[in-house]
This record gives sequence, C-alpha cells and structure tokens, in this order.
Amino acid sequence: MAKEKPASAIPQHVAIIMDGNGRWAQKHHLPRLSGHEAGRKSVKQVVQAAMDHGVRYLTLYAFSVENWQRPREEVQGLMGLLRGVIREELREMGKEGIRLRTIGRQQDLPEAVREELERAIEETKANTRLDLILALSYGSRVEITEAMQALGREVKAGKLDPEKIREETIASYLYTHGMPDPDFLIRTSGEMRVSNFMLWQISYAEIYVTPVLWPDFGKKDFSDALADYAGRDRRFGGV
Ligand code: IPE
Ligand code: IPE
Ligand code: MG
Repeated sequence: MAKEKPASAIPQHVAIIMDGNGRWAQKHHLPRLSGHEAGRKSVKQVVQAAMDHGVRYLTLYAFSVENWQRPREEVQGLMGLLRGVIREELREMGKEGIRLRTIGRQQDLPEAVREELERAIEETKANTRLDLILALSYGSRVEITEAMQALGREVKAGKLDPEKIREETIASYLYTHGMPDPDFLIRTSGEMRVSNFMLWQISYAEIYVTPVLWPDFGKKDFSDALADYAGRDRRFGGV
C-alpha cells in the first residue's frame, strides 16, 4: 500500500533555473524565441505539479541581469512574451489561489511589463495556496550589493549598530525578505552552475541538475525531481 510521505519529504520552497530554451529551438531548427515560447507550457505544468505536490513557494529564474546583454530582438521578444503570459494567466492564477511575486530589479523592466506585473501582484496578493515568485532582471550579487548599501545607510544614520547585524538582519534586506530559503534547486539542460542565482539563499539547498531542456520539462520530470529530493539526507553540517 502506498504510504503517505512525511511532510519534510516535500520541499516547502522549490527554485528552478529554467535553462535550455535556445538549445531546444536549435534542435528543432527554430528561432530562439520559439524556444522561449515553448517553455511557457513547461511553466504551466510545473506550477500545477508544484501545487499538486503541496509545494508552498516556487521561484522561477526567468530573466537575469546578465540576460540584458542578449541581442535586442531576443530581449524584446522575451519581454513581450512575459507581458502576454502575465495578462493571459491572471484569471487562472486567481482561480487557483496563486500569489504572484517578483524578485529582482523591477525598475529595469519596460513600463508595459511593469504595469502588467504590478496589477497581477496586487490582484493576487491575498492568495495563499502557492507563492509563485518570478526572478526578473535578477542577479544575486546586485541583490546583495543593494542590501549592503541600504544597511550602510542605516548605520550611517545611526539607526543600526554594526555589532547587532545578524544573518537575519542581512536576509531582511534581500529581495526575498519574509520568504523561506529554497530547500530544493533544480536546473534544466545540464549546466553545472548557479549563474548568479540566490547565492545567499541556496546555502543549504539540495541541488538537482537534469539534462532535460526546459521546454521538454513536464509534470513527470518535476515528480521525478521531487522523488530524488525525498531520498536526500539533509544534514546541515550535523551528523
Ligand atoms: C533559458 O534558456 C531562458 C532564459 C535565460 C531567458 P536559454 O535562452 O538560456 O537557452 P540556452 O541556454 O541558450 O539553450
Ligand atoms: C540562467 O541561464 C538565467 C535564467 C535561466 C534566466 P543563462 O542561460 O542565462 O545562464 P548561463 O549563461 O548558462 O550561465
Ligand atoms: Mg541558457
């Protein structure tokens, strides 16, 4: 008989580096943007699977600060895609109890994207089934840099005693303040690197890298990843 998994076998917070859209497009002799478009259904499937499994926080790395260096056409295409997805999925998010949030430099995003995001964030803020966190114009080092600038200002103003700075103090200045750290980090398309993603927050995350390209990643792949997580022995430096 199937035994109910203990709650700790399910990560509370899953973070995903959605990689491989370009290679998927190349494999199918399509322009890179078609790969990004194809990645949209993977997002839908993974969001649904996360809720089915009882994951409470899902962070998706959708666009890094470094990604601004890509050809203008690709950046514009991605921004258009993002705007469309937010607009078209807003009703569904409301229905499913999803709260949309973002981390990253929202001020870098085109006005039209920002407006769509702000509306969706406002309209879904009371939902509690799943926090869907999009990392947009996100960079971990810039996040930490901005946090240190804010901390420095507080110290200079005499509002913060440097001796009283704790790990929690630093965490409270990051984009992720108030969110639990990711328990599980998934990267698709086989690259063994973290690409400036949540460097502070993943200090004890379990890491899972799959060769599957993001547009091919579906519910079954997500379940397989969670099964792998359930078998991990998280020691946090203990024995
Ligand atoms: C990930 O796919 C999506 C973004 C970074 C926006 P890539 O576009 O990086 O795909 P590859 O790595 O070139 O295959
Ligand atoms: C990481 O993928 C960023 C996102 C998935 C949004 P990249 O394709 O940009 O990272 P690198 O270039 O492989 O490190
Ligand atoms: Mg890539």
